[in-house]
Amino acid sequence: MSKPFISVQNVHFAYPDGTKALFGVDLDIYPGEIIALVGQNGSGKTTLVKHFNGLLKPTEGDVLVDGVSVRKQAMGQLARRVGYVYQNPSLQLFSQSVKKEVAFGLKLLNLPEKEIDETVDEVLNIVGLYDKKGSIINVGVTKEENKKKRKIREHTQKPNP
Ligand SMILES: Nc1ncnc2c1ncn2[C@@H]1O[C@H](COP(=O)(O)OP(=O)(O)OP(=O)(O)O)[C@@H](O)[C@H]1O
Ligand SMILES: [Mg+2]
Repeated sequence: MSKPFISVQNVHFAYPDGTKALFGVDLDIYPGEIIALVGQNGSGKTTLVKHFNGLLKPTEGDVLVDGVSVRKQAMGQLARRVGYVYQNPSLQLFSQSVKKEVAFGLKLLNLPEKEIDETVDEVLNIVGLYDKKGSIINVGVTKEENKKKRKIREHTQKPNP
């Protein structure tokens, strides 16, 4: 069998206010696997998933992404390999068009314009949204809120924040 892409090893986590949310989680996720994380409200699903891309670091234990500890990687590096999609699109989307939204992270990586265009087309084709490339995104939030989200994404996704 291939090696896990994400390996959660005895992870404990407490928030700064002392709330303990994870108590020794072990979980291996293999390439190509589709996993549903199911549990009661407040059981720690979001807390666990935020460990996959370094948004949170374990209080105890370790998470390996492709064999490397998240402790040794900047969030910006991890963001290249581990995507996080919010349940509520208004927390995630802020660009004016579908094309701009998909291109945002690629621009932060300073890729050449041509490569960005090609990658945008490729991924929109994969998810069946190519015909919506020029569509305007409206998730019902203000310009100010969108500005905030843009800043957060810039801060967390830059390779060397
Ligand atoms: N920023 C925070 N500071 C302190 N405690 C927190 C924080 N975020 C979450 N918690 C607590 O950590 C525990 C796990 O919360 P978490 O959000 O991971 O659960 P969840 O399974 O994702 O819940 P839901 O189904 O409601 O999304 C809960 O007790 C919650 O109150
Ligand atoms: Mg949650």
